Amino acid sequence: MKCVKTIDHQGLIELPALIDPHVHFRTPGECHKEDWKSGAFAAVSSGVTMVCDMPNNKPPCMTIDALIAKKKIIDSQLRSVGIPLRYGLYLGADKNHLDQIEKAKEIAIGVKVYLGSTTGSLLVESALDLDEVFRRAASVDMVVVVHAEDEEILKREKERYGPTTDPAAHSKIRSPEAAIVATREAIKLAAKYQTSLYIAHLSTKEELELVRQAKKDGLPVYAEVTPHHLFLTVDDYAEWKSLVQANPPLRSHEDQEALWAGIADGTVDTIGSDHAPHLLEEKRRPYPQSPSGIPGIETLLPLMLDAVNQKRLSLERLTELTHTNAEKIFSLPPNDDRVWVDMEMKKEVRASDLKTKCGWSPYAGRVLTGWPVYTIVNGEIFAIQ
Ligand code: NCD
Ligand code: ZN
Ligand code: ZN
Repeated sequence: MKCVKTIDHQGLIELPALIDPHVHFRTPGECHKEDWKSGAFAAVSSGVTMVCDMPNNKPPCMTIDALIAKKKIIDSQLRSVGIPLRYGLYLGADKNHLDQIEKAKEIAIGVKVYLGSTTGSLLVESALDLDEVFRRAASVDMVVVVHAEDEEILKREKERYGPTTDPAAHSKIRSPEAAIVATREAIKLAAKYQTSLYIAHLSTKEELELVRQAKKDGLPVYAEVTPHHLFLTVDDYAEWKSLVQANPPLRSHEDQEALWAGIADGTVDTIGSDHAPHLLEEKRRPYPQSPSGIPGIETLLPLMLDAVNQKRLSLERLTELTHTNAEKIFSLPPNDDRVWVDMEMKKEVRASDLKTKCGWSPYAGRVLTGWPVYTIVNGEIFAIQ
């Protein structure tokens, strides 16, 4: 990727650049997996000019002071690579720091609540604390973003399943029920306080139905789906084993088809990569010591352009899912950033082409048609191919 002066746009199509509402750039605390230098290259080389970064850092980002400190590191890293990547940060909800929610309005784009344990230590377990998060967020018109898996059900199912080293068990232990129950609970609270609710990485048919109904009821409830739930299923454990272990886990073909139906009928609002880089050596530890998470920011656009070529969705719908809706939901300032794509370029996904520090992809080897060629961020042109 290099900075250039002009664009040769013959045969290319211009789209608004992507906003990725869900990334883990691992700063501070786990910069061996990613930082904002590698993350910015990964983003811009794949048409993404704005990312929204999650708070499950080490230590977790649950105070204004932590957000300010994180911002400082990010700005300095971005300056050092000369990439004007736009970004927003989420505040992590924690029972001992609930008073930070109202105060974070100016600096955070939303408050993130983990209803079930995932990478990192953030978790809101009590119903009373959760109620308080929604109440406080509504009082300052802040979006609540949920990782919706019910902790009690996760614990119960783990106990019931017993010890195992089979990564495919991950999809059974972290059952659809765990996600459905948590999503239902979150929607109830959104209704109680009229809080804007953004359900991250929604993965099941039933949750989609809950969101469909919530929208019909006029609630400000939004759904994000990830590329891995759109392009991988439980069948992929056979080849990729713990590499495709993620939270929430991969689901059935039926769930996957339901997500595509939600994309077609407008129930799904955004595609978030949930870019969750872990090194190969970490991912290859025997299950369940292997961490959950799949890198995805660099393959999001080519996978979706390939889907457009296969007539699964239109370019207009893709723009809503990757730009317009995120801008509206999180009240982001509009920008003129662009990505120019070649809908006919056919290329294999290669791990060696990736800019992410983790350097691997579960889509490696797939041949995709439709790739970004130039990204324009804040007036600067980056040539990708
Ligand atoms: C994410 C990570 O590694 O930070 N992992 C994942 O499996 N999705 C955390 C998360 O989004 O739950
Ligand atoms: Zn999550
Ligand atoms: Zn995530």
